[in-house]
Amino acid sequence: MTDATHSIAGLQMAPAFGDVPGNLDGVEAAIQGRTFDLLVLPELFNTGYSFRDRDEAQSLAEPFPDGETTQRLLAWSAQTGGMIVAGYAERDGDRLFNAAAIVANGQPLGSYRKIHLFGFERECFDPGDGPFPVHEHKGLRVGTMICFDWIYPEAARVLALNGADVIAHPSNLVLPGWCQQAMLVRALENRVYTVTANRFGTEHREPRKALTFTGLSRIAGPDGKPLADAPEAGEAFVEAALETVRSRDKQAPSGNDLFAERRPEWYADL
Ligand code: ACM
Repeated sequence: MTDATHSIAGLQMAPAFGDVPGNLDGVEAAIQGRTFDLLVLPELFNTGYSFRDRDEAQSLAEPFPDGETTQRLLAWSAQTGGMIVAGYAERDGDRLFNAAAIVANGQPLGSYRKIHLFGFERECFDPGDGPFPVHEHKGLRVGTMICFDWIYPEAARVLALNGADVIAHPSNLVLPGWCQQAMLVRALENRVYTVTANRFGTEHREPRKALTFTGLSRIAGPDGKPLADAPEAGEAFVEAALETVRSRDKQAPSGNDLFAERRPEWYADL
């Protein structure tokens, strides 16, 4: 890979609820021998998703960067030299966040706290206190958002305006294919790459209703086309090559510079 070409990847998996050591070991085995400049793991990959209440989320939440999960991510990133963006439950004093740990080359870079909480998540977590982050590693600029953030186009837009080449998107998607379609548009309208690492399988933790996760993890390119797709079910490692010459070119074939020609003075109602 040249300086301007980077390998980006996502792991689709199905965590067992509450089995943090088992889920960590499972990911470690799945990425054994893999090389990547960026790896994205699903939302809440270490704990599972369907917390019964805030107390249960609290019992599985960890501080950043001292928690067991971030320590394992740090070790994997040191071994591979890559950046890893991975969903987990973050505890910060009395506050709880559905978060993504961002680490590279054995160093903690930050923890993004999901801004747009989905459905019952609002009972278990505090809303994220931002901002949407962009971190640079090996010349690759990585923006992070989590799952339901996709439905607000402002999230991907602000990451792209802040220079992201690629949007890392840990997910636990349950709506039927909506996001997988939309991410092609998020990539196209912002001329960036996206890596949606989703989970698969069904989780049923009464009294919550059963949730089936939609798999189909996807890497999209700046032309709005899929570069790599996982199946609906089953563990899968999706990977693609990213060229910064493409993600930094905001020209449309019409000759319009899509970023320079924005008219934010007319978007004030946003
Ligand atoms: C979601 O935001 N996990 C649907």
